[in-house]
Amino acid sequence: MAEIKSLKSKKKRTESSRRWLIRQLNDPFVQKAAKDGYRSRAAYKLIEVQEKFKLLKSGSLVVDLGCTPGGWLQVSRKYVGKAGKVIGLDINFMEPIPGAEFIQADFLTEEGLLKLQDVLDGRKCDIVLSDMAAPSCGMPKVDHLRIMNLLEIAYEFALNHLNEGGCFVAKVLKGGTEQELLKDMKKSFKIVEHFKPKSSRQDSAEQYVVAMDFRG
Ligand SMILES: C[S@@+](CC[C@H](N)C(=O)[O-])C[C@H]1O[C@@H](n2cnc3c(N)ncnc32)[C@H](O)[C@@H]1O
Repeated sequence: MAEIKSLKSKKKRTESSRRWLIRQLNDPFVQKAAKDGYRSRAAYKLIEVQEKFKLLKSGSLVVDLGCTPGGWLQVSRKYVGKAGKVIGLDINFMEPIPGAEFIQADFLTEEGLLKLQDVLDGRKCDIVLSDMAAPSCGMPKVDHLRIMNLLEIAYEFALNHLNEGGCFVAKVLKGGTEQELLKDMKKSFKIVEHFKPKSSRQDSAEQYVVAMDFRG
């Protein structure tokens, strides 16, 4: 069994930040990410999506919404190779990742969308990824609405910017995608599935909607 690490530092922390830090220190995916050179444990979620659905291909143009600190960008870069292009956007700053273009902007603003469209310069994408999540406010209903809002806006972007045959992968909360949105997705994509990676914390309501083969 893995050794349980505890906090020896005398630094004053709130109880919730103490719990978060202890969980991070003991999380095997956090340790694995540090060893493998990934910037986040989230990288393994996209690796699992890729192993199951084989979406990222050599030469793909990928847009990654909510990309900081950059784990999904690193994974995408690896699969699309030199012929591909990876563009990430986040409201927070990120140290650059070689071979990936980064835009710092709020995707919920018109300015954010325009910046991204500017970089795309009329090109359509093969894959739109969205791991966007607003920080939890502790009220499950509000958290759910916020994440659904991010999902809907990312979906709208995907509809307008994907190539025919393209894919959309986005974070949703347990209970899956809202029925109306799911119905719409099934009309726009030939295959729509929900997927909970093993690296997604089992006590978290997070899962992913994977929509494949955009009808255009
Ligand atoms: C779970 S993290 C993404 C982790 C990332 N996939 C990785 O592999 O490192 C969620 C990200 O969504 C971003 N985010 C939340 N709301 C956003 C918004 N309105 N516009 C842009 N980014 C947003 C947050 O800043 C945060 O960095």
